[in-house]
Amino acid sequence: MPSRPSFFSSSVGSKFLIAFTGLSLVGFLVGHLAGNLLVYVSPDAFNHYGDTLIKNPLVIPAELGLIALFLLHAYKAVRMFLGANDARPVGYQKKARAGHTSRKSWASTTMILSGTFLLLFVPLHLQTFKYGSHYESSEPGVRDLWRTVAEVFSRPGYVVFYVAGMTIIGFHLWHGVSSALQSLGIDRLGWSPALRRIGWTVAAVLAVGFLSIPLYVYFLGARL
Ligand code: HEM
Repeated sequence: MPSRPSFFSSSVGSKFLIAFTGLSLVGFLVGHLAGNLLVYVSPDAFNHYGDTLIKNPLVIPAELGLIALFLLHAYKAVRMFLGANDARPVGYQKKARAGHTSRKSWASTTMILSGTFLLLFVPLHLQTFKYGSHYESSEPGVRDLWRTVAEVFSRPGYVVFYVAGMTIIGFHLWHGVSSALQSLGIDRLGWSPALRRIGWTVAAVLAVGFLSIPLYVYFLGARL
């Protein structure tokens, strides 16, 4: 039986780690979107959500776990990408599709680019919101996070950047979710087409859900 370290540095083990960390990060995104959609309820509801989250004693361990998942996912994916190139230092002369059975797509071949965008996006995003302008709400001790969001998305540049960014993230998830489910071996049960549809649906819901927020705040937010 292979020892644990050699399993996780093998190709199968690396794919497993990329899939496991990726799906865990998708779990975070689902929760993050659900919380963010409270902007559609009211500024108070959104501020209370942010306040409850930040005052939870588990928030620091959860954030550390999130950083570890994110870095491990990126590290393993980059290693795998470079390894794949190392194994074939001279490229194919002609790139051809494998026909209708090929799982290659525009999204799959651009995973490394969309992933690199995510690596740059997350620190910028935290700088903009988590560590961005801090206002007190009318309730003492509660941050007016809604005002920060409204301020950021009153600027057309940010709206365009977020709409484009969420589209790129959508492409990453379009291929990533179904591919991760496949790496975990779930499609051996014969669920391949269903899994692909699940992956596409999750990607589309997350991308559209997230990108609706800057558009909503920019075009309608001031009326709240
Ligand atoms: C329009 C889309 C989004 C909006 C409006 C938004 C909004 C926010 C806000 C307001 C915070 C600060 C929460 C707080 O300090 O209490 C935050 C934190 C965060 N966001 Fe987003 N977010 C969006 C999309 C994303 C995406 C696509 C990702 C990841 C790819 C992401 C990752 C994070 C992370 C990692 C944190 C820090 C969480 C923590 O430290 O607890 N966000 N976001």
